[in-house]
Amino acid sequence: MDSPDREEKVLVLDFGAQYVQLIARRVRELNVYSEIVPGATPLDELLAMQPKAIILSGGPSSVYEDGAPTVDAELFQAGIPILGICYGCQLMAHRMPGGAVEPGDKREFGRQALTVDEPDTLLHGVPAATSCWMSHGDRVQTVPDGFEVLAHTEHSHVAAMADADRGLAGVQFHPEVQHTPEGMQMLRSFLHDMAGCSGTWEMGSFVDHAVASLRERVGDKRILCALSGGVDSSVTAMLLDRAIGDQLTCMFLDHGLLRLDEAEQVKATFGPRLGDRFVAIDASEDFLSKLAGVTDPEEKRVIIGNTFIRVFERESAKLGEFHFIAHGTLYPDVIESGGDNTATIKTHHNVGGLPDDMKYENVEPLRQLFKDEVRTLGLELGLPEEIVWRQPFPGPGMAVRVIGEVTPERVATAQQADAIMRDELERAGVTGLAQWFAALADMRSVGVMGDGRTYEQPIILRAVTTEDFMTADWAAIPHEVLSRISNRIVNEVRGVNRVLYDITSKPPATIEWE
Ligand code: XMP
Repeated sequence: MDSPDREEKVLVLDFGAQYVQLIARRVRELNVYSEIVPGATPLDELLAMQPKAIILSGGPSSVYEDGAPTVDAELFQAGIPILGICYGCQLMAHRMPGGAVEPGDKREFGRQALTVDEPDTLLHGVPAATSCWMSHGDRVQTVPDGFEVLAHTEHSHVAAMADADRGLAGVQFHPEVQHTPEGMQMLRSFLHDMAGCSGTWEMGSFVDHAVASLRERVGDKRILCALSGGVDSSVTAMLLDRAIGDQLTCMFLDHGLLRLDEAEQVKATFGPRLGDRFVAIDASEDFLSKLAGVTDPEEKRVIIGNTFIRVFERESAKLGEFHFIAHGTLYPDVIESGGDNTATIKTHHNVGGLPDDMKYENVEPLRQLFKDEVRTLGLELGLPEEIVWRQPFPGPGMAVRVIGEVTPERVATAQQADAIMRDELERAGVTGLAQWFAALADMRSVGVMGDGRTYEQPIILRAVTTEDFMTADWAAIPHEVLSRISNRIVNEVRGVNRVLYDITSKPPATIEWE
């Protein structure tokens, strides 16, 4: 999607860093519009996008590897300010005259003391002694002609370098992560001072531009929006409603894997807003029958993804012809489903699980954004707070919270426990959680209830804090609240005799349980 103001777009070239999206997000936090593009984008296409500046991301490769991603050396002659980060910095040194990269025998990882040698340009305002976050093997040995060394660490004599006259700079460390305390200051200096960005972009400009670009793309064709009632699809629907109003139909598909009473809430929220452009379908039978006997988590996701689209095709056919289908896919969904250079962690139903022969064209207007950016967008679009602040709920729903076979009974067990957990957290006024839910394990253990022996399943409680859902920490819920949740679950939910609290961060775990 193009930026509203062509002067102010910064492109982030993705060389496969897990955290490349953080760079784009930090740039937007500094009020400059930014987008991620594949590292292999040809030079003429990059130039045609008229970026105000370019950032070369990090990545897992070595510039010496066969097939390592690279850039056209002419990019550095194009007069565009460029910042190279980690692998991006090594690429600059490797591709520009005079520069050299030394293959690393010793990895430098984690927090490192950073000594500033030249407190100007990129490092303007940065204290002489600070710290930075490193994660690299190779390192820059010699800076390209015209560059000067700005900072060093114990193991990298070129930790930062710049050629101020040409607006080119490189850092061996990661300014985008919180562990580089002066990172935002450095990015600000690059964007505002070296690249001359004015820093006037805000989410309102995103709405204007997204509306204009959706109108252009959709034309007079009809679009079907898969509305789940979660924040992502609700914001997508409202954005489309604003852009193309009458051509939009929102279909809410109850797959029987929602939270307790959720289907009724979604209908009550969107029915009145969208009138006859809101269609609710009860498809629980379609999904649960196909999931019978399936225990493998990836298989469940693929079945759900396929069933979703088949049911959509079947039901939408009853409503006439549609050309497009809209999804509320966010950047973390894209990155975790595996781009060209990143590993597939999970197949998210709304990205990787769709069949190839799908007859709709996809529209994903939130694809470049993070969850908290989508919330800001939702408020901008006038969505009610209770929708904007709703905790995320995955597309495959309870299927990724019922470990093992998904039967109607096991779904009901997890739903009841989940409702108790949500209820008690709300009563206790616990705030600051990003996501919280109950999952059902597929094991049994012995317990004692009344005077009798039980042999039942445990419920796992999960509550995390996170900003972007790429990393997360388990939440320190007060013990007395956990205790109330546990008591109520074992007393009120049949078939459960233990309650466990998950105290694992992401990574190494994920947020969901499947
Ligand atoms: P994980 O479990 O991968 O979850 O740490 C990260 C975030 O993504 C949500 N999630 C999904 N969302 N479709 C979605 O729309 C999916 O298939 C899916 N799987 C996980 C999860 O709830 C968390 O917010």
